Amino acid sequence: MTNDSAPGADATPVPLTTGRLTLRLYRPEDLAPSLEYYGDPEVARYLLEDAWTPEDAESRIAKRIARSGIDEPGSALALVVEHEDVVVGDVALWTTGDTVSRGEVGWVFHPEHTGQGFATEAVRALLGLAFDYYEMHRVVAQLDARNERSARLCERLGMTREGHLRQDWWSKGEWTDTLVYGMLAEEWKSL
Ligand SMILES: CC(C)(COP(=O)(O)OP(=O)(O)OC[C@H]1O[C@@H](n2cnc3c(N)ncnc32)[C@H](O)[C@@H]1OP(=O)(O)O)[C@@H](O)C(=O)NCCC(=O)NCCS
Repeated sequence: MTNDSAPGADATPVPLTTGRLTLRLYRPEDLAPSLEYYGDPEVARYLLEDAWTPEDAESRIAKRIARSGIDEPGSALALVVEHEDVVVGDVALWTTGDTVSRGEVGWVFHPEHTGQGFATEAVRALLGLAFDYYEMHRVVAQLDARNERSARLCERLGMTREGHLRQDWWSKGEWTDTLVYGMLAEEWKSL
């Protein structure tokens, strides 16, 4: 059985607060702090996109402002993560397939703010939203298989490594492997 409707973007309970972080919707002034880390080729190394130019940043932020909640297949929620009023990274949840019952999560953090568990804390809150609020059945994360820090993050969160796809993505001039991690609602509830 699948849901074909969700509680609605307007009602999404954001900002979300965790022990150390605030997760909130994007606003135009997030352009400069986002470009600070998305402009770094090291940060973009395992992303599907290249490092942002200032021109890229404008269109990217405009798209993210529109991603304000899950209410139909194809919709998404993009959240800026702040620690003590400073942008430290961002997380996103989007639907996969033709239903809102299955989702995918993604994350990018500023290198100056890694190594403190902020990504773990923020993505855990996002999974809470996916399973407890949007009542999703299954959430996945897909990552470049060389992205060991993201794989460790998935494992800290209790996700299961479900697949290693060989050379399935052409990224930055080469074929790359993809890891698929997944979590089911029943697993989230029993954590
Ligand atoms: C992927 C990424 C978010 C991981 O960042 P990270 O700092 O390793 O993850 P966290 O913020 O959860 O921090 C965990 C680290 O902090 C340490 N830590 C310190 N305090 C902690 C705490 N209170 N709670 C949890 N971990 C803590 C952990 O030991 C861990 O370090 P380790 O992996 O060396 O053991 C980051 O590398 C990144 O943004 N990369 C670039 C973008 C990218 O590749 N995105 C993913 C595309 S799929």
